[in-house]
Amino acid sequence: MTDTLTAPTDFLDHCRRQVEQELEHRLAIAMPEAGRLCEAMRYSVLGGGKRIRPALCLGAAMAMAVPGRRALVPACAVELVHAYSLIHDDLPAMDDDDLRRGRATTHIAYDEATAILAGDALQALAFEWLSEAPELTDPVRLRMVRELARASGYLGMVGGQAIDLASVGQQVSLATLELMHRRKTGALIEVSVRLGALAAQRLDDDRLERLHHYARALGLAFQVQDDLLDVEGDTSVIGKPRGSDVARAKPTYPALLGVTGARSHLADLLAEAHRSLADFGPEAEPLRTIADFVVARSH
Ligand code: IPE
Ligand code: IPE
Ligand code: MG
Ligand code: MG
Ligand code: MG
Repeated sequence: MTDTLTAPTDFLDHCRRQVEQELEHRLAIAMPEAGRLCEAMRYSVLGGGKRIRPALCLGAAMAMAVPGRRALVPACAVELVHAYSLIHDDLPAMDDDDLRRGRATTHIAYDEATAILAGDALQALAFEWLSEAPELTDPVRLRMVRELARASGYLGMVGGQAIDLASVGQQVSLATLELMHRRKTGALIEVSVRLGALAAQRLDDDRLERLHHYARALGLAFQVQDDLLDVEGDTSVIGKPRGSDVARAKPTYPALLGVTGARSHLADLLAEAHRSLADFGPEAEPLRTIADFVVARSH
């Protein structure tokens, strides 16, 4: 990312290219004794994906006028945690899905044990990268490690996945559904924005709070749209099996509020995300673009 890049329409494409180049470079790992594991790690991370979380990290850095590459390694670290979460989410013991990003899920392309281990290894690698991220002070790195750990664990993504599994076939309240979505998906979206903003190395800046508010609204919006795509999307476009939630009797926003109710909630969340950025100028344009993309996306 160059520091002068501001054209919002190019932003997502630009981020995707830059992050994929960095991930390719960093994942050019080979371990002859565990070649299959390394292959599965690369397969899961490099096989497409919108790279929304890295884009949010880079976008938040831009909103804080952070010099270009300082947020790139944190952005890649979040994407590794995300890739690991998808591998495990698709396993037979969880959602039991065989299609992801338009191709076989990791446990189908390899085998279950390799998929579990690839997820485990990617999670560990994320923290290794983050702890060594260049151009950051040790206190900032430590803060980032703590925030990513918390967002990934029982109070974040994993905790949300546990609520998700415990809720199968249950009639849950809207409050429980919101909590589940905020944890399983919102937490990693929120931390993506926070890591980008923290790269400014101004830990007491009050803009952090406003960016966090934006991320909270967007994190929930992201999963509401994901739920809607499970009902209304097209398997060949979303790249994963349509109707997976319905088949598994998952509580979702469309299941609880109906499609129209879910859409209307989504519109409220988008408006809230934009309101949170009201005090920012053009430096937050990339974040505004991402918010619009997230709720309008078809995949
Ligand atoms: C899918 O995330 C899993 C959810 C949290 C809903 P994405 O829709 O960001 O998946 P990719 O990375 O683009 O494939
Ligand atoms: C997944 O939610 C959230 C994760 C932590 C991966 P979903 O189960 O709805 O995600 P998809 O639809 O399989 O991508
Ligand atoms: Mg799931
Ligand atoms: Mg799933
Ligand atoms: Mg889904």
